[in-house]
Amino acid sequence: MAGRLQGKAAIITGGAGGIGSATGQLFAEEGAGIVLVDRDAAALEAVVAAIKGAVPAARVVSLVEDVGEEAAAGRIVEATTSAFGRIDILVNNAGIRAYEPLGEARSETWNDILRINLLSYAWLTREAIGYLRASGRGSVVNVSSTHAVNPRAGMGQYDVAKAGIISMTKTLAFEEAKHGLRANAVCPGLTLTPFHIRRAEAAGRTRGDLDAEAKGGCLAGRWAEPREIAYPILWLASDEASYVTASAIMVDGGRFVL
Ligand SMILES: NC(=O)c1ccc[n+]([C@@H]2O[C@H](COP(=O)([O-])OP(=O)(O)OC[C@H]3O[C@@H](n4cnc5c(N)ncnc54)[C@H](O)[C@@H]3O)[C@@H](O)[C@H]2O)c1
Repeated sequence: MAGRLQGKAAIITGGAGGIGSATGQLFAEEGAGIVLVDRDAAALEAVVAAIKGAVPAARVVSLVEDVGEEAAAGRIVEATTSAFGRIDILVNNAGIRAYEPLGEARSETWNDILRINLLSYAWLTREAIGYLRASGRGSVVNVSSTHAVNPRAGMGQYDVAKAGIISMTKTLAFEEAKHGLRANAVCPGLTLTPFHIRRAEAAGRTRGDLDAEAKGGCLAGRWAEPREIAYPILWLASDEASYVTASAIMVDGGRFVL
């Protein structure tokens, strides 16, 4: 069933990371023109090469930007419309992590998390809104986290931003329904990316330790592959989800029934 995004143009932020790159490849396989945005130029270059290798007909534009700068949003929209003349899909996915208990949380960290993980979603949505409305079938997919609704100790700043994303998504869905624009959030659970492997190794933990953590962490008993998060993003972005808006979909291997 290839071609589910044929004729559409999509922006994906954090496109060089685990979930962003998997989403980019899947969107390219399904016929979308894609703009991958990331601040990590080397990683972005490698991802674009990999996508072009896997999908020779891929229409991919890469853009090195820090989405935590408000002015970047206008440049991203400009680059997308220059390349494809339209914007139908916006996947806000870029994110950073911080590990400070609230009792020790620094202003600098709060600022970084809120700027990158929350405000970048708002800025890019605002700058793209005219094109998303003009699409007539626009779709915004905001990547949140299961921890938006199930906070834990030690990552309060991140979890607050992720909760804010769900609230922002629902308000956007409310405000833009009259323009045929849908807005939904995807909340990934444990998703194994190079970041997690590097972090575990730096702490002297093995892949076996990571697998053991996931085994008791959800019904699936394992980590998700990034592509398993990309599929729900694809579905929400596509016209197949035409009756789905203002939703926050848990993609967590059944984490909360445990
Ligand atoms: N992996 C998981 O287990 C998991 C679980 C829940 C939610 N998420 C969310 O999914 C999204 C993607 O996560 P991932 O696991 O693929 O992470 P990742 O670290 O592999 O990718 C994130 C990407 O965002 C980019 N980025 C960070 N700050 C940026 C900025 N200011 N400007 C531009 N690019 C920036 C990074 O360079 C990186 O390529 C994030 O929002 C994350 O919070 C991930």
